Amino acid sequence: MGGRSLSADSGQLGGGPDRAESQGRARLIPFGGGKGGVGKTFIAANLAATLARAGYQVVAVDGDLEGANLHTAIGVRRPRRSVADFVSQREEDLQKLMEDTAIQNLRLIPATRPNLAHAQPSHAQRIQFIRALRQIDADFVLLDLGAGTDVTVMDYFMVCENGVVVVAPEPTSIENAYSFMRAAFYRRLRLSMVSHDVRKLVGIAMDERNERGIRTPYDLLREVESLDSAEGARFVRSMRAFRPRLIVNGVRSAADIKLGFSIRSVCRKYFAIDVEYLGYVNHDEAARASVRACRPLVDTHPRSNAAIYLTRIARKIVAQDQTEEAR
Ligand SMILES: Nc1ncnc2c1ncn2[C@@H]1O[C@H](COP(=O)(O)OP(=O)(O)OP(=O)(O)O)[C@@H](O)[C@H]1O
Ligand SMILES: [Mg+2]
Repeated sequence: MGGRSLSADSGQLGGGPDRAESQGRARLIPFGGGKGGVGKTFIAANLAATLARAGYQVVAVDGDLEGANLHTAIGVRRPRRSVADFVSQREEDLQKLMEDTAIQNLRLIPATRPNLAHAQPSHAQRIQFIRALRQIDADFVLLDLGAGTDVTVMDYFMVCENGVVVVAPEPTSIENAYSFMRAAFYRRLRLSMVSHDVRKLVGIAMDERNERGIRTPYDLLREVESLDSAEGARFVRSMRAFRPRLIVNGVRSAADIKLGFSIRSVCRKYFAIDVEYLGYVNHDEAARASVRACRPLVDTHPRSNAAIYLTRIARKIVAQDQTEEAR
């Protein structure tokens, strides 16, 4: 993905590679956050459009079978295919569910559910889905997740170590963002532990009021280390690798902007989670107008404040990606 230049700070990401093929492995970015209606879909759709407009090959994937609407935010009114076909085993090849969109370089895998009786993905199907996502030929694969912290959302959030958590500046959303990150953290730990006893211990720690008195990840780490030092080392590695990225959406004041920093400190202090504050998007009536028009804001109102902030975030994502690649 190297060799792409980015324009100055404007509503445009600009100056992309301008070619029809991606280069190698796609960067997977899931968007979660616990609370419904905080703007996960809006942000995923707009970042996907911004990256595609800049010339990156992007695939936007709707991972929200219960409330699929990424297609609408991107401007695909009647999707012909769906992740539901993959789950119901009607289509085994995820790549065949991809649809072109009106935006050049942006393809979509929708998740509309014509048959409400369709089942939710099983554990094996979730693994299969994630494997298939990893094989998509693109620069970026953006995965929009549903609200909540059920196993499907959590497993999809863990397609990478630094998924994006979207939070709105209101107590209910902040509370849910914390529980979301905590749930992701413990699920991750549990999956990376090998010993049955240690996994059991992590399971116990997931209950905040557990009788063993494990209240924080640091308490848990002490117990794991005393049980098995190799597992303790694995625990620390897994803890350090987990670096969720945070976006505060719907910002109306300076205090709202600071929220990202305070969430970062709280996570570090109490949850041992190293959060990265990716940026914020202000509350903008143009956002609602774009949703009503069923098109990305970066297309309908490219000079709006929200579009400019979204572009800044896209630029940061690209820069991080280049740094990671260089490493
Ligand atoms: N920055 C913003 N300024 C103003 N309105 C916004 C902004 N971001 C999102 N919205 C509005 O909030 C609505 C809900 O956003 P969105 O559907 O993206 O939330 P969500 O987190 O994906 O919800 P769900 O969990 O139900 O999938 C949008 O339709 C849009 O009208
Ligand atoms: Mg959504």
